[in-house]
Amino acid sequence: MSENQPEDGSKRDFIFLATGAVTAAGAAAVGWPLVAQMGKAADTLAAGSIEIDLSKVAEGQQLKMLWRGKPVFVRHRTPKEIAEAESVDMADLKDPETDDARLVAGPNGAVDPKYLVMVGVCTHFGCVPVGEQGDYDGWYCPCHGSHYDTSGRIRKGPAPTNMVIPPYSFVNETVIKVG
Ligand code: FES
Repeated sequence: MSENQPEDGSKRDFIFLATGAVTAAGAAAVGWPLVAQMGKAADTLAAGSIEIDLSKVAEGQQLKMLWRGKPVFVRHRTPKEIAEAESVDMADLKDPETDDARLVAGPNGAVDPKYLVMVGVCTHFGCVPVGEQGDYDGWYCPCHGSHYDTSGRIRKGPAPTNMVIPPYSFVNETVIKVG
């Protein structure tokens, strides 16, 4: 298996791979395994951006990258996870946000609900939540017990707001640039 290919392990919380540009700042802050391609153009490094090929993330898998020293989660959601995210009543949310509002349209102008991209940092005190855990099938922060749903929205526990969607855009049909 190439080091830049996802592992075939559906039960793994995270996979680590990089395509395209990765920031120097991000790689320097690695405290956990990360496969990264280095030696990119200086302007890319200065901009603090990363490019991620969504097509490399299989359904049900999550990619974790570092961006400006923070983990970024890229989850390829299953149809069940998407249905759960879309069916939530806004009145049930502490930080009301539709699932659609947390996604970015591709080059064709349409939003693909399969891919959720967010900063993987708990909005309580900054721990890194664990995927496919918690009462809402999304993420669970073990530090003080915050539960996030499959859209990364806070549902239970002390975190005040949803996990943050970073600024990103599509470079082409499958590649996004974060930052
Ligand atoms: S840091 Fe996540 S619940 Fe406190």
